[in-house]
Amino acid sequence: MKLFLDTAEIEEIRTVHSWGVLDGVTTNPTLFAKTSGMTYDEVLKLICGITSGPVSAEVVADDVDGMVKEGRHFAKIADNIYVKVPMSENGLAAMSRFRAEGIRTNCTLIFTANQGLLAAKAGASLLSPFVGRLDDINEDGMQVIRELAEIIRFFDIDSEVLTASVRHPRHVTEAALNGSHIATLPFKVFQQMVHHPLTDKGIVQFKKDWETARAAMPAAKKS
Ligand code: E4P
Repeated sequence: MKLFLDTAEIEEIRTVHSWGVLDGVTTNPTLFAKTSGMTYDEVLKLICGITSGPVSAEVVADDVDGMVKEGRHFAKIADNIYVKVPMSENGLAAMSRFRAEGIRTNCTLIFTANQGLLAAKAGASLLSPFVGRLDDINEDGMQVIRELAEIIRFFDIDSEVLTASVRHPRHVTEAALNGSHIATLPFKVFQQMVHHPLTDKGIVQFKKDWETARAAMPAAKKS
């Protein structure tokens, strides 16, 4: 299973990349709005300089020609750009035009398996159901992942399910168990996945015991 970082913060991307576990990055207008001092193009260029994995850049136009114009522009920034297009009638039309031009897409704002199936048929490479936002309204986000992943595998469709709107580490485990090809995580969730109280406590105890053993050693044997 691939793990993407859901952020436009360059330092967060550098950090997770340095751990050797970063497979790609997703951005959206909300995440870009949290950065400061740079244009969206500048942020995207920097991100594509850190990871060679898929980097999603989201269109904001709501008409087909506008989406296509923005997407073509993003696609020129780097080879690993995936144009992020919202699920809508115009979004489907734009994704099928991108497919014809060889520009890869990530269909965003998916909330049902049927929306995911339509996006796959329109040519989206990545299908992004939002599990957290479904859970927020007392629905079962993971059910969409389960259903969509099964449909994709059953018909051997050339698209990947990308679990988005991840809120906590348990979402990642469940996404993996339900056959999601990818999950995109906020930086905080990556950090939460690394840590466990017993791991952190164990590290402190091993260091303490090592120092105790070393202190008891004759000076000549200490290296
Ligand atoms: C990623 O592609 C999505 O835009 C993101 O995961 C949405 O997350 P949110 O529901 O926390 O805003």
